[in-house]
Amino acid sequence: MFTELLKKRRSVRKYSSGPLAEDQIRIITEAALLSPSSRNIRPWEFILVRDPDTLRYLSRAKEGAKMIADAALAIVILGDTEKSDVWVEDCSIVASNILLAVTDIGLGACWVQIRNRFHSGTERAGDYVSARLGVPERFEVEAVIAVGRPEEKRPPLGESDMDWSKVHQERFSA
Ligand SMILES: Cc1cc2nc3c(=O)[nH]c(=O)nc-3n(C[C@H](O)[C@H](O)[C@H](O)COP(=O)(O)O)c2cc1C
Repeated sequence: MFTELLKKRRSVRKYSSGPLAEDQIRIITEAALLSPSSRNIRPWEFILVRDPDTLRYLSRAKEGAKMIADAALAIVILGDTEKSDVWVEDCSIVASNILLAVTDIGLGACWVQIRNRFHSGTERAGDYVSARLGVPERFEVEAVIAVGRPEEKRPPLGESDMDWSKVHQERFSA
C-alpha cells in the first residue's frame, strides 16, 4: 500500500558494498523519468555515477555528503534553467520519486542537497560537481541521490511523525 511505502522510506546513509543489478537501476531511473512537471517540459537530465573515484569526489561536494563514497550509485539531478522557471519544483518531484522507488525495491537512499550549498567558502557545491561531470552551464545541480544496499535499519515513520496541527480547515487557524 502506498502509505506503507511512505512510512518505510527513511534516509539511509550506510550501504554494503557491491554493485546494484541493472534492472534495479532501470526501475529507479524509470521513476525519475515518469515524474510530472510543469507544462510537461521535463526540464531535467540525470547522470548515473557508479565509478568509485567519481563517487569519492562527489562525497566531498559539501558537508553531509560523505555517504556517497560508499554508495553503489549516485544519481545527479540536473535542472535546465533555460527550459523552465520552475525546474526546482520539477526536480524535487524527481528526487522524491527516486527515493520512493528505491524503498519499494528494498534498497536505501539519501537525498544530498546541492543547490544553494557551498563546497568551500566561495565555491558553490553545484560548480564543484559540474566541473568533474562536464555539465553545461545552463544546468543547475539540484541534488545527488546516494543509493545502495542498506546496511542500517531505520524504523518506519509513524503517528508521531504526523503533525496534525499543521493541517488547517477552511482557514488558517493559530
Ligand atoms: C531537500 C532535502 C535535502 C536534504 N539534504 C541532505 C543532505 O545534504 N545530507 C543528508 O545527509 N541528508 C539530507 N536530507 C535528508 C534529511 O536529513 C532527512 O530526509 C530528514 O532528516 C528526515 O529523515 P528521514 O528521511 O529518515 O525520514 C535531505 C532531505 C531533503 C528533503
